[in-house]
Amino acid sequence: MGRIADEKIDEIRERTDIVEVVSSYLPLKHSGVNHQGLCPFHQEKSPSFNVNSARQIFHCFGCGVGGNVFSFLMRMEGLSFPDAVRRLGEKAGVEVEEEAVSPEEVRRRDERERILRINGVAGEFYQQLLLTDEEGAPGRRYLRQRGYESETVRTFQVGFAPGGWDSLAKHLVGKSFSSDDSQKAGLVRPGKQNRGDYDLFRNRLLFPIHDLQGKMVAFGGRVLDDSLPKYINSPETAVYHKGQTLYGLYQARDAMRHNGEALVVEGYFDVLALHRAGFAGAVATCGTALTADHARLLKRYADKILLIFDEDAAGRQATFRAMDALLPVGLSVSVVAMPAGEDPDSLLKEKGEEGFRLCLDAARPVLEVFIEDQLRVNDESVEGRARAAEQALDRIKRLPGDLERSLYLKRLAELTGLEVELLQSKVRGGVPVSQQRRAPNQSNPVRKPAAETGQTQKYLLRLMIMDDQQRRLVRQEGTADLFIDELYRGLADYLLSREDEQGNLPDDLIDAALDADQQSLLSSLTFQEAGDWADNADKIFTDCRRAASNYALKRRLKEIASLEEEARNNNDEAGLMKYLRERMEINQKLKKKL
Ligand code: UTP
Ligand code: MN
Repeated sequence: MGRIADEKIDEIRERTDIVEVVSSYLPLKHSGVNHQGLCPFHQEKSPSFNVNSARQIFHCFGCGVGGNVFSFLMRMEGLSFPDAVRRLGEKAGVEVEEEAVSPEEVRRRDERERILRINGVAGEFYQQLLLTDEEGAPGRRYLRQRGYESETVRTFQVGFAPGGWDSLAKHLVGKSFSSDDSQKAGLVRPGKQNRGDYDLFRNRLLFPIHDLQGKMVAFGGRVLDDSLPKYINSPETAVYHKGQTLYGLYQARDAMRHNGEALVVEGYFDVLALHRAGFAGAVATCGTALTADHARLLKRYADKILLIFDEDAAGRQATFRAMDALLPVGLSVSVVAMPAGEDPDSLLKEKGEEGFRLCLDAARPVLEVFIEDQLRVNDESVEGRARAAEQALDRIKRLPGDLERSLYLKRLAELTGLEVELLQSKVRGGVPVSQQRRAPNQSNPVRKPAAETGQTQKYLLRLMIMDDQQRRLVRQEGTADLFIDELYRGLADYLLSREDEQGNLPDDLIDAALDADQQSLLSSLTFQEAGDWADNADKIFTDCRRAASNYALKRRLKEIASLEEEARNNNDEAGLMKYLRERMEINQKLKKKL
């Protein structure tokens, strides 16, 4: 994708009004200088979603999400940044031509577009056959037998591939698509010995797989009897990557957003069955394990995931692999157990919506299920329980929230009979650096509570937004000596970088350089009223400076500890003395400051 020139982005932003764009999705009401409405990104009864026209910014105080008009559209429509820019460009009448697109890139993009068109034409062909054509009768009969009426079938644009060898191949030629492109779309294969192309899908019920714009990118096809293979799926193509695609997400995402909850199941029919029964937030992986990309995709729409996989060894393995992908992104994950041999489709048929609801209500946190499973596969000896605990700790370590970590440690202690203090110490040793940003005091229990210093750093950021003079002071001092947390420091640097030559900030503060976390934080700060604290600028400044310097000193103490250890091992008396002295000096400084 070629880069869109910054001036274009600015032009589009200038010609776009965030209030107008948001209003096209939800009703907004004036409230003081802001507009307010019910947040489209989580479920709520009273409005905590704010839009500020002057700053061209939105923020929800319920779920913490915020940003500018581009990030709003990205979240709302699941678009990439360039696509959001292009979409708004069209509305604003700004032509977005891109700079520096290589001929190779142009070729690839054209090819992707052709493949998408071919998929669309094929999907239409299959759908028409199923809905109206004589040849589609077996497909209609099959669906009727399984109790699928036309509404669900239409929502998911189900189709039927006829039995002939080359019905689709011919249809595509008739629409002037090249054989080469049809093959690249994965829909036809080259015939042997001068015979023409033949269709991949024959005599199968077809489930189109959509991207987030509703375009068909692939198909899954089921036989109508017991022959094998039961399903054939499109191969990966330039427009289809299994590891980044979830079946049914296009149809499910509104419901997910509304309930904050996503159901992840195994099969195409399960998604249809759930949708029909009113559980519309359901998706299936496309015959592959759940990936980290899938997890991030789901996180856009939901914060809670319910996994519903088969009750067999393969299903359990899929459940725990999904757990490993989902937990690190901060999703809460539960397991829904089905009676053996059932899947959502069959269970709904037998027990109806209430029967299924009972299963949902009995969902259990995935880590708990995992711990029990580990205890079961390892023997009951001390070693066995230790092995199980190690496995579980490995997962608990990766949970992003300290509260959750501590709850699970307690639970693990109960289940294994091991001391909770012991388990805690094991987790503390290994919090990955990437997670220390959110829980900066996890590995350093002596530091001031992060909540407190975090709040002070936020005040300072807020002051930087309100007050040009404050930014000057921060620039003089250097952000590294004021902000401990990477997130806050990054934002402070960003604010300084946005100043114009006179040292003023632009009205519209958020640009594409910021990631989602930073945008949300910045929008929340912008909406925050200046409280009493605003009169204590000096104190906030010095508090930040003191916290940062304490932090640096304590980090050095830790380094010294290992340096001392090393010196001791090498019998390096001089080095040992040096570190001892430094340690004492630092401790004295710290004592004076606290
Ligand atoms: P299942 O065998 O559980 O089928 O495969 P199902 O979805 O319940 O279908 P019905 O109810 O028997 O009609 C679960 C999923 O695994 C993938 C498909 O995505 C399927 O929906 N799968 C299964 C394949 O890709 N190929 C296969 O041969 C079988
Ligand atoms: Mn099934």
